[in-house]
Amino acid sequence: MLDSRRFRGALGRFATGVTVVTGLMPDGTPAGVTVNAFTSLSLRPPLVLIALADSTTCLDAFIKGDRFAINVLREDQRPLSLTFATQRKNKFKGLVYETWDSGCPILPGCLANLECTRVTLHQGGDHVVVIGEVDRMEHSEDGNPLLYYRGSYARLGEKI
Ligand SMILES: Cc1cc2nc3c(=O)[nH]c(=O)nc-3n(C[C@H](O)[C@H](O)[C@H](O)COP(=O)(O)O)c2cc1C
Repeated sequence: MLDSRRFRGALGRFATGVTVVTGLMPDGTPAGVTVNAFTSLSLRPPLVLIALADSTTCLDAFIKGDRFAINVLREDQRPLSLTFATQRKNKFKGLVYETWDSGCPILPGCLANLECTRVTLHQGGDHVVVIGEVDRMEHSEDGNPLLYYRGSYARLGEKI
């Protein structure tokens, strides 16, 4: 049996960006969760994927709703990451956001925002892999990403 602390330790050596993935619950309430299990998957068609724990309170937004949005955080958006990584009722309280075609929250000040249509769901152990096709996106030419490495937030170092 693999030691789960060592497994997490090994996986934590893979540095990632941080996103807040947003959607709408079946009753139309906005939902959002901090996700670093996000990756590009295909260029043609333009696909991305996220992995969400089965225990995610707002999972229905992503497995029942057919649209979702990925908001790629900047280095100064750690408070937003913390808000959406905490189980609480109204994560959007006091937050001003935009909506595009789907109504999913598009968070302001991000490095990139991508609006997607869900195309497939796969169960992977205790997570659900959600694959989406990107319908619309915006990105900023400048600014640095918020990073996550070895269980802590980090900034981009020198480019090499
Ligand atoms: C940096 C960071 C990355 C995270 N990445 C993921 C992830 O990829 N998938 C996931 O299911 N939870 C991830 N989490 C945990 C969720 O954000 C957290 O459990 C959240 O509260 C779940 O949503 P809920 O409040 O609707 O239950 C991450 C947390 C942090 C701080």
